[in-house]
Amino acid sequence: MIRASRARTLSIRRSGLRPDYTRRVDLVSVNLAKDARKAGARVGLKSDAIVVEGGKPLTGRIEVRGAKNLATKAMVAALLGDTPSLLQGVPEISDVDVVTRMLDAYGVAVTSPAEGELLLDPSNVLKAHFAQIDALAGSSRIPILFCGPLLHRLGEALIPDLGGCRIGDRPIDFHMDALRAFGAIVDKSYEGIRITAPNGLHGANIELPFPSVGATEQVLLTAVRAQGVTELKNAAIEPEIMDLIAILQKMGAIIWTEANRTIFIEGVDSLSGYTHRAIFDRNEAASWAAAALATHGDIYVGGAKQLELMTFLNVFRKVGGAFDVHEDGIRFYHPGGQLHPVQVETDVHPGFMTDWQQPLIVALTQADGVSIVHETVYENRFGFTDALVDMGADIVVHKDGLESISRRVPRRKLEQAAVITGPTPLHGADVRVPDLRGGFSYLIAALSASGTSRITNLGIISRGYERFVEKLEALGADFRLEG
Ligand code: EPZ
Repeated sequence: MIRASRARTLSIRRSGLRPDYTRRVDLVSVNLAKDARKAGARVGLKSDAIVVEGGKPLTGRIEVRGAKNLATKAMVAALLGDTPSLLQGVPEISDVDVVTRMLDAYGVAVTSPAEGELLLDPSNVLKAHFAQIDALAGSSRIPILFCGPLLHRLGEALIPDLGGCRIGDRPIDFHMDALRAFGAIVDKSYEGIRITAPNGLHGANIELPFPSVGATEQVLLTAVRAQGVTELKNAAIEPEIMDLIAILQKMGAIIWTEANRTIFIEGVDSLSGYTHRAIFDRNEAASWAAAALATHGDIYVGGAKQLELMTFLNVFRKVGGAFDVHEDGIRFYHPGGQLHPVQVETDVHPGFMTDWQQPLIVALTQADGVSIVHETVYENRFGFTDALVDMGADIVVHKDGLESISRRVPRRKLEQAAVITGPTPLHGADVRVPDLRGGFSYLIAALSASGTSRITNLGIISRGYERFVEKLEALGADFRLEG
């Protein structure tokens, strides 16, 4: 059996690609391995590899806390306040540690008065150096959201070259266009981007080409203290966005949303700190639900709520999964019987989230028939399927996407489609985590496969899954950590 990474290098060599391409691929892998170790170390995960004995259903209860995709932005928002903020339900993940170190570099005192709580005191904000921010940010994209608050506090923001992760190029053109619309000046240099606002920031009329989560957050974090009113059209309305709006309103902001993805923000001169409990992590909840399905398991996800998971629950039920909604969580389980194929289109909220497709695809490899997943948000989010194919899955990726009569989401040039034919038994293999959600899907695949799997770059998973090793233990998984 050829190991996944050797297979890739061999196929590249056979394709006669220039050696420097191979060197670039190896370099990317080396950097990813470094990032994985750093990310793991930030949350005390010393091992880089996990060896899983598959075939055992996951059963038991786990808790999900605050959302990675809200907590990190809420921490940045504290920079806008004149007084300290208290964030509760903070997950112990490495992305939170990255933002804590960055805030510290900008003079924000970050302490933890209790478990899962962060007190953020922005009384003495000061300038930080490019190199410092670059080193701290690593491959995180969060520095881009510091722009607005730093322009208001310091009149300048320095953004290192962000780069993308393996799911797409992830350009920042919407962010830069929005900041220019507020009156900011954007200067690109070899180090990164320097943004200034010599004449201050004023309200603007902005229409996003695509309802980008990041660009919507950029506009919110900038407009709340800009002179005048900002109208944002085609905004993202994800639950994490609405939770960020709730936080800003608690701080003293004036924000109202309209039904057609339009948000109005009336700038104010000053904001105070907030006290807020972060919305639960619906991506983590959906991931454990997919794990219950693929392992024929029964997992109670404490902290999960129905409203933010409506679309996921519909698809979960259509595939053949069962769930019970309770006051303090949701029970997800495999009710027995055969799983059913489905057609899924990822989309912006309230559609099926792009972050849910990777874990779900593992379960779809066990459905009786042909499933199709159309990825419409990112241009390269099926790279992880290579390793699933190495484990015995039947997945074909159509790089230009697939026409389909029953499509609801308007086709995007960048989209791709994966055709999953099942059921095919999965067997253990050695795989390397390529990105956050891909990594968790490998855990699910290894747990539902026969035989032994070895998963490396484990730290990448700790970027967004709090204490996942303890949770696997609590759910009765058979594994050991290595290296
Ligand atoms: C956020 O990323 C999340 N990350 C992502 O979750 C999530 O997949 C994504 O929103 C969509 O819901 C965080 O919140 C930290 P976007 P973000 O701006 O803000 C294009 C996970 O696994 N675009 O909504 O970066 C972009 O390339 C992560 O938790 C531009 O073209 O996503 C993409 O195709 C992965 N130009 C699309 O818009 C821009 O300036 C959506 O990106 C900005 C975005």
